[in-house]
Amino acid sequence: MAANLRTSNMYYHFLLAFQFLVLLQTRVSCYKYKVGDLDGWGIPTSAKPLVYTQWSKYHTFKIGDSILFLYPPSQDSVIQVTEQSYNSCNIKDPILYMNNGNSLFNITKYREFYFTSGEQGHCEKKQKLHISVLSGNGSSADSPSYGPSALPEISPSYPTVFGTIPQPPSSSPPPASFPVFMAALSLFAVSALVGGIM
Ligand SMILES: *[C@@H]1O[C@H](CO)[C@@H](O)[C@H](O)[C@H]1NC(C)=O
Ligand SMILES: *[C@@H]1O[C@H](CO)[C@@H](O)[C@H](O)[C@H]1NC(C)=O
Repeated sequence: MAANLRTSNMYYHFLLAFQFLVLLQTRVSCYKYKVGDLDGWGIPTSAKPLVYTQWSKYHTFKIGDSILFLYPPSQDSVIQVTEQSYNSCNIKDPILYMNNGNSLFNITKYREFYFTSGEQGHCEKKQKLHISVLSGNGSSADSPSYGPSALPEISPSYPTVFGTIPQPPSSSPPPASFPVFMAALSLFAVSALVGGIM
């Protein structure tokens, strides 16, 4: 009886660890990017007029990723618009309107996405974002040429990624230790099960 209890307890821990692993893997493969990083979403300051152009240049997006717009909900909003509306700052008839201050846009298609603020006058002040989500062979992905001086600013995207798994933002997830941990754990669970049955 006591052995049985111990066995099911082990099994439960094994399940928990497995669920955590699955969760971790989905977190790692789908990134959530915060638009503008520390600047959030708002009218660009005079010091960084091209903040959103720069931001989209230095990130690569894929299907399953999402982008997060953070802003004071009483002062701003996000709209997804057509390319034409993006260029002309036409904020009428947006494709999508979000104004809760914490707006997550999920990338589900290969295409170009255009965003601006739903507030009058903000688009004209360069609060606008264009991202390209291209399939692997996309030729236009590499076409914008950066000067050599811009290259050092290119950084891996994970420091700007955040999720609910607590981990130091600047360290990459340990890829090898988890399988080892899992293997050890399952071995332990199996031996506990066998020990319980015998
Ligand atoms: C994106 O997905 C999240 C949950 O995964 C959801 O809360 C959010 O509303 C979605 N965004 C849009 C624009 O549909
Ligand atoms: C790239 O993808 C496009 C469609 O998205 C396709 O027509 C084209 O043949 C592909 N090119 C290569 C080299 O795979």
